[in-house]
Amino acid sequence: MGKPFAYVPKNVYLCCVILTKTTMKRFILGLAAIVCVLASASAQSIYDISVKDDTGKDISLADYRGHVLLIVNTATRCGFTPQYTELEALYEKYHTGGLEILDFPCNQFGQQAPGSIQEIHQFCTANYDIQFPQFDKVEVNGPGQSPLFAYLKERKGFGGFDQNDPRGKMMDNMLRKQDAEYDKRSDIKWNFTKFLVSRDGRVVKRYEPTDKMADIEADIAVELSPVLSTIMARRSVRKYLDRPVEHDKLALLARMGINAPSGMNRQPWIVRVVEDQKLLAQVNEVYKKANPEQVKRDPSFKNMFRNAPNLICVCSPTQGGDLDAGLLGENIMLAAQSMGLGTCCLGGPVRFITSNPDAAFFLQRLDIPEGYRLNYIIAVGYPDEQPDARPRDASKVKFIE
Ligand SMILES: Cc1cc2nc3c(=O)[nH]c(=O)nc-3n(C[C@H](O)[C@H](O)[C@H](O)COP(=O)(O)O)c2cc1C
Repeated sequence: MGKPFAYVPKNVYLCCVILTKTTMKRFILGLAAIVCVLASASAQSIYDISVKDDTGKDISLADYRGHVLLIVNTATRCGFTPQYTELEALYEKYHTGGLEILDFPCNQFGQQAPGSIQEIHQFCTANYDIQFPQFDKVEVNGPGQSPLFAYLKERKGFGGFDQNDPRGKMMDNMLRKQDAEYDKRSDIKWNFTKFLVSRDGRVVKRYEPTDKMADIEADIAVELSPVLSTIMARRSVRKYLDRPVEHDKLALLARMGINAPSGMNRQPWIVRVVEDQKLLAQVNEVYKKANPEQVKRDPSFKNMFRNAPNLICVCSPTQGGDLDAGLLGENIMLAAQSMGLGTCCLGGPVRFITSNPDAAFFLQRLDIPEGYRLNYIIAVGYPDEQPDARPRDASKVKFIE
């Protein structure tokens, strides 16, 4: 057995003696890849990861907490290398607002980043006058992949090349010829793949090298704005930690809600914040009894309110007021997002409660005045998941110019 396998533990070696040398090599590479994925998976957050700067010094990504990051694997002899000009323009425009571009040269695609990191850096400063930090060369795929890129790929897989873009089509043709299944894997496809990371370390989006820089710039502008990034980060959460939200935070949410606009400032809403865990458990028992099969099918089922520990019940007049009540709810959900809380707007449980006589006690406890009805419920809690954005249909918007 040759030197490359000298580090294989004895028991693994014994298991493998029956394998051919090629199969063995594949096995070792696979094992190394798994170890690498496990190492990145053990990183709870991007800020747990360290990288090496252009002098080989360890730099913790925690140093970049609070910044919006655009992380990119680059090469100096690639058709996409002129993107350095656009990257530098982005950096100059948004750096003072909180953008950092982290550049990781990589020689894995067509060997288009040869030379030492010092030579690469000299080339980039001389030709593109780049000001953003350039880190040590890395591998982004395979057994030697950097934990950072393993982490990024795990969170944002390959979404395809833009087929409406001729360069996107060209890349797709080229890679498909090499491997018909290339798009099934999350690995990095080529130089100048980019990842956008929010100020709180969330991997927001992945861009292929053919994606338009104008779209990337629009996303950066969103991430840099506290209001816009909160709107874009809010997602319906359906998995929560077993931890009720503190009373003062719920009170703040209710206050944010009633500061929504309403027609003639009529404020035609009634809000009930449910903290009583016993009441939730009681109504949940009614639901479980009525839906035993559904509860059995869902191993993550905790309660009928999408598993949340608290509710904000929004009531509106039986005649009208829906629009105002809806605006109140969005205020609450965005405020919750900005406070690190998750929410989910719920119509289903309202239909159940208002139609099932066994749940009448719940409505009685809400103490809803005459002439009002329970309109919808906002589930609130500490999120135990980070759902991806559901698609939005931009064609619903038309500009009348
Ligand atoms: C009026 C209304 C009622 C909803 N009812 C439910 C519901 O009963 N159960 C649920 O899981 N989600 C419910 N949702 C959440 C939607 O499914 C969710 O907002 C939508 O899929 C978009 O996903 P996002 O909120 O993550 O962007 C409701 C949302 C609204 C606005």
